[in-house]
Amino acid sequence: MNIGPIELPNRLFVAPMAGVTDRPFRMLCKRLGAGYAVSEMVTSQRALWASLKTSRRADHDGESAPIAVQIAGVDPTEMADAARYNIDRGAQVIDINMGCPAKKVCNVWAGSALMSNETLALRIVQAVVQACAPLGVPVTLKMRTGRCDGERNAVALARAAEGAGVAMVTVHGRTREQGYSGLAEYDTIAAVKAALRIPVVANGDIDSPAKARAVLQHTNADALMIGRAAQGRPWIFREIAHHLESGELLAPPATHDVKHWLTEHLHDHYGLYGELTGMRTARKHIGWAVRALPGGEAFRSVMNTLQSCDAQLRAVATFFEDLAVKYPDLPAANDAHLSRQA
Ligand SMILES: Cc1cc2nc3c(=O)[nH]c(=O)nc-3n(C[C@H](O)[C@H](O)[C@H](O)COP(=O)(O)O)c2cc1C
Repeated sequence: MNIGPIELPNRLFVAPMAGVTDRPFRMLCKRLGAGYAVSEMVTSQRALWASLKTSRRADHDGESAPIAVQIAGVDPTEMADAARYNIDRGAQVIDINMGCPAKKVCNVWAGSALMSNETLALRIVQAVVQACAPLGVPVTLKMRTGRCDGERNAVALARAAEGAGVAMVTVHGRTREQGYSGLAEYDTIAAVKAALRIPVVANGDIDSPAKARAVLQHTNADALMIGRAAQGRPWIFREIAHHLESGELLAPPATHDVKHWLTEHLHDHYGLYGELTGMRTARKHIGWAVRALPGGEAFRSVMNTLQSCDAQLRAVATFFEDLAVKYPDLPAANDAHLSRQA
């Protein structure tokens, strides 16, 4: 599958998640089977580009190609400038955020709020495509199904964006009003796919190989994007890839391998954020990794009190080494649940 001229190794994508899909996490997911990963959104407001947060988000050091940066904003000229700025710093694909319902973004009419203003949305798409096309960089768009139940305009907006030169559209199967509540629906994604010639990516609630297969069948989408289900379980990409290729389910990973992946991820994470911020922001990743495992909840409480990266690393090593004695292969979440009750 291609995004414009760029060929991807497979059609399993990591969803952009602010505060989660930083460079270390994206690289981990790519090592474990994801074919493509989009960065956390970067604001189009020039005044913030020099901030530590934005410069960390624009850090692609050592990341395998293609490097995709998501930009968010409401002003077409600013968005075009943001696209050029990120291309100068290594972006090979620019993704426009029209999918995020966060208040910080939507209060200024960015993110999914833009879907309610199709004229402005299209002006932004046109300005960004005009900025990127001379540099040979494809532009993609991430959106929801619409503002609310009665206003699902994803097909109209996706068609207009295709007409303006967008190379790929991703649709999260919820409305803006839904936030993350309820269930994702896939009929609108199927309608967008049927209406477009460019690749369409299905997103929302894909959390297992079986669900991935079902969503592909229902939508006929060209690719799948996975977000929350990869938190603490980045090997879900290779599990899905294996199932789509063979129809079989991949055996669970060895507990020792999970320890190794998490340790590698933590080293990379501390390298990007430094000791103090690294130690604090690593807690959520460690928490996700252990939450469904026997003893995971108790471990998480203790781990949250540790005050150095070294202490976190030692605690993680001990937790997984102890777990491996009883479970050489990672226990399924259900086993863990039973053992927590026991
Ligand atoms: C913590 C978090 C942060 C997110 N940040 C972004 C973002 O920066 N840009 C964006 O387009 N979507 C963002 N999303 C939405 C996801 O990309 C995705 O569309 C959504 O989570 C549905 O997919 P999932 O069910 O596989 O998680 C975020 C979601 C979460 C949970």
